Amino acid sequence: MTSRIVAVDPFDLVVFGGTGDLAHRKLFPSLYRRDRDGQLTDPSRIIGVSRSDLDRKAFRADVKKALEAFVPAEELDKTCLARFLDRLHFVSVDAKSDEGWDDLKALIADGLDRVRAFYLATSPDLFDAIAHGLSKHALITPKTRVVLEKPLGRDLASAQEINSAVADVLTEGQIYRIDHYLGKETVQNLMALRFANVLFEPVWDSAHVDHVQITVAETVGVEGRGGYYDRSGALRDMIQNHMLQLLCLVAMEPPSAMEADSLRDEKLKVLRALKPIDESNVRGLTVRGQYRQGAIGGKSVPGYLDELPDAATSETETFVALKAEVRTWRWAGVPFYLRTGKRLPSRVSEIVIQFRHVPLSIFGSAGDFLAPNRLVIRLQPDEGVKLYLMIKDPGPGGLRFREVPLNLSFAETFKGPNPDAYERLLMDVIRGNQALFMRRDEVESAWMWADPILEAWSRLGRAPDPYTAGTWGPSTAVALIERDGRTWHEDPA
Ligand code: BG6
Repeated sequence: MTSRIVAVDPFDLVVFGGTGDLAHRKLFPSLYRRDRDGQLTDPSRIIGVSRSDLDRKAFRADVKKALEAFVPAEELDKTCLARFLDRLHFVSVDAKSDEGWDDLKALIADGLDRVRAFYLATSPDLFDAIAHGLSKHALITPKTRVVLEKPLGRDLASAQEINSAVADVLTEGQIYRIDHYLGKETVQNLMALRFANVLFEPVWDSAHVDHVQITVAETVGVEGRGGYYDRSGALRDMIQNHMLQLLCLVAMEPPSAMEADSLRDEKLKVLRALKPIDESNVRGLTVRGQYRQGAIGGKSVPGYLDELPDAATSETETFVALKAEVRTWRWAGVPFYLRTGKRLPSRVSEIVIQFRHVPLSIFGSAGDFLAPNRLVIRLQPDEGVKLYLMIKDPGPGGLRFREVPLNLSFAETFKGPNPDAYERLLMDVIRGNQALFMRRDEVESAWMWADPILEAWSRLGRAPDPYTAGTWGPSTAVALIERDGRTWHEDPA
């Protein structure tokens, strides 16, 4: 089947934080692309909201500039761009007072029967005020959906506070907690791989899998986000959400249907089965790092402390490696090694399922070279799936073995670019499909597991291990896995 565009119902999408970085980089480019491909129907409107004192014309100019910066020129079609800009409106609202809400209400009053989505691309400090503002000003209709951007709290207590404040005025079915990793094509493909093929399920357990590795490596530093990042760190920024979601998709039982609650029930079970990491075992199971000045791709890059707004001291981690365990019958004893960091040598996100050795080699000394099978799911870049198999090296000279990948490259197989995760997720909001969004109990369970790690780190008071930008993190991260007689995956291809 080739891909096809299914138009969504007309909607009003109100973007709080409409002049912010996320809106510029991700939301407007994604909406533009969906509009260009004919997925948005008239008379859908997109309403930017912020405290800025802009009029509609200035807002459109602002969005046009953002599109020119973040959408490649060859994708910017003049007619599509004009149509898209025509959908845009702007209202100045102060989330913390009554200012501007009536203007917003008046603007969308004629769209009562449309899907009405509010995207909260703001700091989470404003989620409570905005949700209550929507309620107070009678903006919530039966077709209302509210999207919450991460970070959803900085620990369990703050996440619960946000969730409760929002639940005062909205039902769980109206709340879309976004984790953009779930919108990535390859992440969804993980589910296709597992549940649309018969091959993998019988070997997807501790009897056949030796361990799992999940790596999300970035070359970027903290860019202009130092203020946020320094209060967050890699565990809160990447592990508590994106990486645990990936782990859940690898480890969960097959859901009874590809439907929001079945899927989320299964992910929740995994989160609840994670072995606690606390002061008693945190040293052996986790590594924190922070980058120092170094070079990536031949270019010198500053250290973390130099990238912070007021170059001070900081003990925030920009790298985490840890060994997790899912305490279920399926996964008992199988380590899940997670690793993420900024300023690593290359941008790569991948999941590696490392299978066990064959139970017995029948090949005599030639069998010494048998490597166990490995399934590598590459999320980005060069999306694809590789299954490493042992084959006989062709030609004379005795029985020699070689490890060769069956290589499914998405770029070669499907041509054309993959849509951005936000394109898919925004359309799911309009369609009312919550499958790829996190439920309250999932987010809170993830914090329940992360909190004791953060507490243990802070109680032990150990500074993060330094690593040079452009390397794969501190040497302690290598030791973490090598202690178990294993190594981090490196793609030989
Ligand atoms: C965000 C984090 O959620 O994900 C960032 O806050 C990180 O720090 C980003 O850079 C990574 O997303 P992607 O899609 O570029 O892998």
